[in-house]
Amino acid sequence: MTTPIPTPSVPAPDIVRCAYMEIVVTDLARSREFYVDVLGLHVTEEDENAIYLRSLEEFIHHNLVLRRGPVAAVAAFAYRVKSPAEVDAAEAYYRELGCRTERRAGGFTKGVGDSVRVEDPLGFPYEFFYDVEHVERLTQRYDLYSAGELVRLDHFNQVTPDVPRGRAYLEDLGFRVSEDIQDSDGVTYAVWMHRKQTVHDTALTGGNGPRMHHVAFATHEKHNIIQICDKMGALRISDRIERGPGRHGVSNAFYLYILDPDGHRVEIYCQDYYTGDPDNPTITWDVHDNQRRDWWGNPVVPSWYSEASLVLDLDGNPQPVVERDERSEMAVTVGADGFSYTRRQDDDGVEGFKLGTQL
Ligand SMILES: [Fe+2]
Repeated sequence: MTTPIPTPSVPAPDIVRCAYMEIVVTDLARSREFYVDVLGLHVTEEDENAIYLRSLEEFIHHNLVLRRGPVAAVAAFAYRVKSPAEVDAAEAYYRELGCRTERRAGGFTKGVGDSVRVEDPLGFPYEFFYDVEHVERLTQRYDLYSAGELVRLDHFNQVTPDVPRGRAYLEDLGFRVSEDIQDSDGVTYAVWMHRKQTVHDTALTGGNGPRMHHVAFATHEKHNIIQICDKMGALRISDRIERGPGRHGVSNAFYLYILDPDGHRVEIYCQDYYTGDPDNPTITWDVHDNQRRDWWGNPVVPSWYSEASLVLDLDGNPQPVVERDERSEMAVTVGADGFSYTRRQDDDGVEGFKLGTQL
């Protein structure tokens, strides 16, 4: 582990959930086609520079902001905190960590009030807010419900070179670990961490970072995800389907990864599980278990390991990317044929894994 991040003496802010992501897109009209016309996210508000989108069941102003800009990147990973005082707590927490912070009483985006943005110790632009405009929750607007309806923002996924360092920092910040991937040497490749009672609000994936791996929206059922695949095929944009559909091992969720016009990765996700008890067991997967990333054993395409979006500092400039110096998951699991189905000989001489055997 590189230099550990100190634990502040002041309390961590009480985070409720991941709430929205602000991404910079280079062609707002093309991005609108993707997120509104193809994926069916609902427009709360828009102008010539930005579009504010929300999922069907959301009651706050937005879950995704598309902002026009010169370089495709992520401007904010925003979390809702439990009360206005917790925004103060977030500001004090990051100041003690020596991080750059910026507080705006009027918010950084439309629809959101008093907020603080920080350049966190891992180099990510994090935001914390409580005040937010309520809008119509469309849950029972079945007249608007599409066959591939996105109903909630589920999680973020961040790429960082040193996963244990990031994990310790996020545990200090109040996140709990639901699952992780390690090898028998103790190298950690990824970790899933939550505040709300699902598998995660964010995950750390080991790799060159800080970068944004994906933002994930939930559907109600598997068939909604299949419909998105069918629709993308019908629209002749199947080249934007990067990976899946499939069933994850980690999280148990049904998944699909697609790429927006700038290459920002979006996951469509459903059917993970409840994690709200304080003694919710942590599941550790072996990096050589072919079912960890896909329960059916389908290979992971190399681009899924290597490609990710830049993130911005508080001035709007891309953060420099630091290389991971530990083993990469792609290096240990993708063979010369470009496929990631490898077998490990177990101690008993039997190839592969028995049901339920993880590290
Ligand atoms: Fe995900």
